Amino acid sequence: MAQTARRWYLAKHANADIEADTFEFREEPIPALKDGEMLVRSIYLSLDATNRVWISTWDQYMDPVNPGEPMRGFVCGEVVESKNPAFQAGQIVAGMHSWSDYFVTDGATFSAFPALPGIDLSEAFGTLAIAGPTAYVGLINVGEVKAGETVVVSAAAGAVGMMVGQIAKLKGCRTIGIAGGPEKCARLTEEFGYDEAIDYRNEDVAARLKALAPDGIDLLYENVGGQILDAGLAAMKNFGRVVICGLISTYNQSGGPVPGPYMFRNVIMRRLRIEGFVILDYVEEMPGILQELAGWMMEGKLHFRVHVVDGLEQAPDALKMLYTGANQGKLMVRIGNEPG
Ligand SMILES: NC(=O)c1ccc[n+]([C@@H]2O[C@H](COP(=O)([O-])OP(=O)(O)OC[C@H]3O[C@@H](n4cnc5c(N)ncnc54)[C@H](OP(=O)(O)O)[C@@H]3O)[C@@H](O)[C@H]2O)c1
Repeated sequence: MAQTARRWYLAKHANADIEADTFEFREEPIPALKDGEMLVRSIYLSLDATNRVWISTWDQYMDPVNPGEPMRGFVCGEVVESKNPAFQAGQIVAGMHSWSDYFVTDGATFSAFPALPGIDLSEAFGTLAIAGPTAYVGLINVGEVKAGETVVVSAAAGAVGMMVGQIAKLKGCRTIGIAGGPEKCARLTEEFGYDEAIDYRNEDVAARLKALAPDGIDLLYENVGGQILDAGLAAMKNFGRVVICGLISTYNQSGGPVPGPYMFRNVIMRRLRIEGFVILDYVEEMPGILQELAGWMMEGKLHFRVHVVDGLEQAPDALKMLYTGANQGKLMVRIGNEPG
């Protein structure tokens, strides 16, 4: 059995881009288990856009990670040894812990992770841990999407965006995805079922939205912010809804106030409802949401793309991919092999 754990710590807050010395890699002894604890061997680490928020000095929705603390993330792993009656050795579990290959936990944020027949663990974890529930809640609980509506999604080829488009289609909507570059835009229509794709790197998003949604957007699912949010606000229908899921284009900005949105006046002109949300607030709804998402996956109704980077050592460099668009799907780090 492993005697030591390798773990990433935050060395300093990130005020702009993540740098070579933002994180520090350490190896340390694995402590003996106390009653109520379990030792987990990590398999996949989910890298999420919000990881960048956690290591900032922003006022945020939960405690930040401070210098000297282990870097936090959503992980799935195998229980190696357990002194917690709720978990058994050999079980696959998922929850929030540190970027490490082994860790000891009291299991407070953990639950057993179900095996989905015919679905890889990487796809199941990638879909069900964060991205799928976020897409579902933003679209259905917050956005109150209805059949026949025109739904526009930014960062549409990313982990959350690919799910939003597909769930909106399942609900009978017309979908327009915005992503960077011809390859991701082709993926939007060919893999993720979007009706239309807009390449924000090579096209005028505001002009394309007006052309593709001449009667206006009913529901804007915003993942990016900045100029893309402005283009969406300019093309909203009267009484449309804007769901603010994320503002990734602003996460690496340092110092003073971030610009815009300049079309905020349309909240009045078009009588819009704008609502932000954090998926962690929907714990009580989660069992039903996971059941529905897992059902769609097993029926082959949800297509999912994962981008797996090998090796815990690569986690900080891999995280940067989310902010350049280098990730080609739900970004995860494979820390250890799947059992068997
Ligand atoms: N509210 C919640 O509870 C919650 C939970 C999870 C995620 N989120 C939010 O959901 C969004 C997507 O996160 P994710 O984890 O699924 O990541 P992701 O979409 O898989 O990856 C991030 C993508 O954002 C795009 N992007 C990055 N910087 C950009 C910029 N400056 N301008 C335009 N596009 C940019 C890139 O796609 P392109 O190549 O297309 O540019 C990149 O691939 C984030 O805003 C995140 O904060 C919110």
